[in-house]
Amino acid sequence: MKKLSKKQLAANRIDEHIQIFKCPICHKSMSLKDETQLTCSNNHMYDLAKQGYLNMVQQGKKSQYDQSLFQARQRLIKSGFYHKLLNQLEMILKNQSTHYILDAGCGEGSHLSSLLERVNYSMGIGIDLAKEGIQTAAKGDEQGQWIVADIANTPFKDQAFNFILNILSPSNYDEFKRLIKDDGIIIKVVPGANYLKEIREQIFEGTEQIDYSNEQTIKRFEEAFQLKQRENITDYVSLSEEQFHDLIHMTPLTQDAELEAIHFVDQVTIDLEVLVGQKINQTY
Ligand SMILES: C[S@@+](CC[C@H](N)C(=O)[O-])C[C@H]1O[C@@H](n2cnc3c(N)ncnc32)[C@H](O)[C@@H]1O
Ligand SMILES: [Zn+2]
Repeated sequence: MKKLSKKQLAANRIDEHIQIFKCPICHKSMSLKDETQLTCSNNHMYDLAKQGYLNMVQQGKKSQYDQSLFQARQRLIKSGFYHKLLNQLEMILKNQSTHYILDAGCGEGSHLSSLLERVNYSMGIGIDLAKEGIQTAAKGDEQGQWIVADIANTPFKDQAFNFILNILSPSNYDEFKRLIKDDGIIIKVVPGANYLKEIREQIFEGTEQIDYSNEQTIKRFEEAFQLKQRENITDYVSLSEEQFHDLIHMTPLTQDAELEAIHFVDQVTIDLEVLVGQKINQTY
């Protein structure tokens, strides 16, 4: 039998779960037209790209991240850089009925992609505002549905998801509350004080930014959701020179830094907090 193209696979997947989509402009239900376009009754149209991803933002904002950053991030993540985090996320997802999973701010998609290989799900969707990230995700994976979309105005109906992942990315808690089912689970991953300290120390030595605290971020999460679980992930990851270059290229920490001035270190600290929350008054 002829293998389906990425576009046909995506069209079938979207058609099967069309009930969760809504138009991000007029908020009407959507339907799939000719296996190539999502349309609403007001004729707003969103094309399915050859690689199977959808673009559902009106005017693509220029992302601060380019294709080479996402490729560096993908190489590093696929080499197992965050393997402890992924094991922890897998454990949380495995204990639940994992039907609809959203990765909000998925970047180049590696976290969601490897979780979809490990857990049961009906539909796994990664959204990101950066088209370059979504393109890189769609190129490397055909299990998830990848969509260029804004976390502040997502193209999904109320209570569409059992899980929302939000890994090292900005959040929009009003939108997350709208999207999550009453008994659904939000998982937010934030850096801890020692996250990549070997790089942080080189860039911020002698400045106020040398000390980083996630307390405000955690407080905001606790105000929005009932915190059901909080886990620290600490790991010390050995790096080759290539991996080190990928790391300094892909991390937002080095955004305004001169990369040449950062000297090679063969090990870095991973320090992450995993926050697991639910809507207030739900039993986990
Ligand atoms: C540091 S990256 C993390 C990506 C991915 N979760 C990971 O851990 O590899 C932050 C991501 O958030 C995305 N982002 C920022 N603002 C966004 C928004 N309003 N809607 C969707 N994505 C957004 C960026 O494009 C970027 O890919
Ligand atoms: Zn519309």
